[in-house]
Amino acid sequence: MTDYEVLPTNMALAERAAELIYDAAREAIAARGRFTIALTGGSSPKQTYQLLAHATPEQMDWSKVFVFLGDDRFVPYSSADSNYEMCCELLLNHVPVPKEQIFPIKTDTATNAEAADNYAETLSQVFNAPLSGPPPALDMILLGMGDDGHCASLFPGMPTLSVQDKWMVPSPPGTLPPPVDRITMTFPVLNAARLVLFLVEGAKKAPAVRDVLEGGAAVNVHPSAGVQPTNGKLLWLLDHTAAERLSKP
Ligand code: 6PG
Repeated sequence: MTDYEVLPTNMALAERAAELIYDAAREAIAARGRFTIALTGGSSPKQTYQLLAHATPEQMDWSKVFVFLGDDRFVPYSSADSNYEMCCELLLNHVPVPKEQIFPIKTDTATNAEAADNYAETLSQVFNAPLSGPPPALDMILLGMGDDGHCASLFPGMPTLSVQDKWMVPSPPGTLPPPVDRITMTFPVLNAARLVLFLVEGAKKAPAVRDVLEGGAAVNVHPSAGVQPTNGKLLWLLDHTAAERLSKP
């Protein structure tokens, strides 16, 4: 049974997400001296990022935070479609996280395959983990879910869903507009995390939420069902509309 919490409003969801992020950061910094987190794109985390942008020093010690991206579109950072740009605008430009501890997926390469390989190399260096070994355990990975059940840039029916031997892969455009190539973390990286937190809002997500959380959805149909951390925890935060098809909302 996957753990989930239903929040009455989008603001309540953002407040709960921020609280969980502060707790995870505190714990990770106490245990390992730093907090590694992968941010997600989409609209669901935006309010959370805005709250984090106003975190007090007691809530978040940004000097010890290392920021990654779980996926991005293969577009320049200046593009309005860049997840990194959105994260900068709402969060990273407003907090004292050292620039050298922010790791966007570099998109100035010739292909998104090259961008994916480069980012895997970045992860390998930051975590001092050989690419030939198991993926590193990020302290926390934030994810959203699309109406079709995708997460990160892992889309239904795509070969990317069965990749086991790579940490990052290029992804063809999914069902989401705009139709641009993407780069994404793979299931092995997502499932190595200490905590994966889904942030899901809106009635359009309700059928996929039900299928993933209660319906035994196939990964090929609803990729979010493939996020099952091996040793870590998984928690879904749902607003009440996203939860409306659950048997116990
Ligand atoms: C992206 C995301 C993607 C997103 C979902 C949900 O690149 O946009 O990483 O996986 O999280 O599409 O998006 P919403 O929160 O906007 O519904």
